[in-house]
Amino acid sequence: MKHQQGESMRKLKTLKFLTFAATLNLQKMLGLKLPTDPRWVNIVEKNIEEILTDHAYCEQKATSTAISMIVLFPEYTELVQAMTALVKEEISHFKMVHEKIIERGWVLGRDRKDEYVNQLMKFFPKGGSRVTFMVHKLLYAALIEARSCERFRLLSENIADKELAEFYRNLMVSEANHYTMFLGFARKYGDREEVDKKWQALLEYEAQIMKDLGKKETIHG
Ligand SMILES: [Fe+2]
Ligand SMILES: [Fe+2]
Repeated sequence: MKHQQGESMRKLKTLKFLTFAATLNLQKMLGLKLPTDPRWVNIVEKNIEEILTDHAYCEQKATSTAISMIVLFPEYTELVQAMTALVKEEISHFKMVHEKIIERGWVLGRDRKDEYVNQLMKFFPKGGSRVTFMVHKLLYAALIEARSCERFRLLSENIADKELAEFYRNLMVSEANHYTMFLGFARKYGDREEVDKKWQALLEYEAQIMKDLGKKETIHG
């Protein structure tokens, strides 16, 4: 019995260590400079209707962004193909969130302002070549995916509602893939060295914005 207890304790410790390592790796992989204060989840939990509403519109905006990439840069065939697939995936995420809202007896509310995204998109100066414009758009999209992924991870690990925890765990994986894809396209179409410099600068800027956030029941708030 004692041996069994010792064994399960060891397993639990290993599991905790693996979760911790996975968290560190994800953080490292995403490159974010400032992690969200985990207390943000406590704020979210008090108002699930609000977070689901805001989240539904995040998925709608991700869909709209993918469509706009097709319209703006049609000659980049590989990008157009990836964005076509992304439109389908993001709208399916919207549907999933919408269904969660319906299941809980609510009706989708009006769109919420995303202060985080509005602030973020002030970083790169307007103008420049078409490729530069595209690279900037790709980097913004990569970062929004990365931060969303980090927020979904926090929800999946800390929210008491088991069903929602599982829901966010699955979405976290999708958004991590989107982050990699957007950053990959920026590096492919832009000058690699210059893109990496811009990416680091954008990450620094984002950390500054984040200092004032993590206090609202929205995905990026
Ligand atoms: Fe999504
Ligand atoms: Fe996404």
